[in-house]
Amino acid sequence: MENFKIDNPTILHFGKDVINDLGETIKKFGNRVMLVYGGGSIKRNGIYESVMNQLDEIGAEVIEFSGIKPNPIVDDVNAAAEKGKQFQPDVILAVGGGSVIDSAKVLSLAIPCEHSAWRIMLNMAKPTTAIPLITILTLAATGTEMNSIAVLQNVETHKKIPIRHDLIYPKHSFLDPQNTFSVPKDYTAYGVADLIAHAMEAWFGKGIATLSDRFVISIIQEAVENGPPLLNDLHNYELRARIMYAATQALNGFTMYGRVSGEWGVHSIGHILSLLYDTPHGASLSVVYPAWLKLMKERIPQRIHEFGKAVFNSSSADETILNLEDFFISIDAPVRMNEIGIGKDKKPELLDMMIKNKVNGMYYKLSNRDLERIVDLMYFG
Ligand code: NZQ
Ligand code: ZN
Repeated sequence: MENFKIDNPTILHFGKDVINDLGETIKKFGNRVMLVYGGGSIKRNGIYESVMNQLDEIGAEVIEFSGIKPNPIVDDVNAAAEKGKQFQPDVILAVGGGSVIDSAKVLSLAIPCEHSAWRIMLNMAKPTTAIPLITILTLAATGTEMNSIAVLQNVETHKKIPIRHDLIYPKHSFLDPQNTFSVPKDYTAYGVADLIAHAMEAWFGKGIATLSDRFVISIIQEAVENGPPLLNDLHNYELRARIMYAATQALNGFTMYGRVSGEWGVHSIGHILSLLYDTPHGASLSVVYPAWLKLMKERIPQRIHEFGKAVFNSSSADETILNLEDFFISIDAPVRMNEIGIGKDKKPELLDMMIKNKVNGMYYKLSNRDLERIVDLMYFG
């Protein structure tokens, strides 16, 4: 086991109606609030109104920035930063899924910083301070509500990259499973796929950490048992709660302690699909993971089988991959390129972009030939 430090400063408020504590929590940071959200789902499902009631009660002065897109782009963060520099908020309140929260994280660094948001993403600016960030999570998937990661896309330079920075842990995150009732079936499934992929990226990482391995398996068992019934019962509080908590624990450090690193090759490929074809993040992963495993079964059959045995009671690495694919199919998550609308004619463009972006794993390195084999497996199984 490697040395490690546990220091996750995010305070999580989990459960029914936790939003009732939002106003008082915000007040501790000040009363100038910059509210950030996406394309309007929070207006349709009533979350916006509850947030505004809380802000009214504390007499907050509020400025809004909306329209953050799924697979968020850095231009929106720059535009928000301009607004923020004029308004000088005491606190940023992000209400949405991973795209909104990730954008708000980079925004929290960009407002007090001289550099553009992309220079921050590229680690060329060295931010020393951030506007405090509070989040209300509305979609269970990414784990961003309790980690120090943000992922943004630059449409000009064709890059989708993550940044990790200690200053962007949210100060508080409010997770009410009721706020995810309105997430449609497809995005609910993509969220389940994403959280499973996060736990798997830890499992296939470098280093031996047996307790963290057990956490990985438990998180995935929770997703495998509760994901399918949830898809037939989208307003089931208990199922929504189990998936929401699993998604948070899948990427807040919990599965990583004692390892050297995670793997992240599958995510790296998934980001290229999102960059080129705007594929929803979780949908990209349910296509790439089985293909990556099919390549890797020649190199690490034992590790793959160990995983499958624990999660699905699989009898071999091959069966593990089939079981995982069947699981994704059972929740209507795509497993082949045609299911996400990407034709065979796109293969050269896709490979080219993967190579240009230096797509690779952190532990298992991928040659250009490996990338091509993975892409073929994504098309043809
Ligand atoms: O834009 P709005 O109106 O909010 O609609 C969103 C969006 O259309 C909608 N939605 C969210 N909550 C809803 C809802 N619709 C109805 N009811 C609700 N309660 O769902 C759509 C997708 O939202 P998005 O935020 O894009 O989804 P997700 O949470 O999956 O975030 C994906 C982004 O996070 C990044 C991904 O790369 C992608 O850009 N990731 C961030 C990570 C992190 N920060 O740790 C790690 C992940 O691996 C991932 O890379
Ligand atoms: Zn992910």
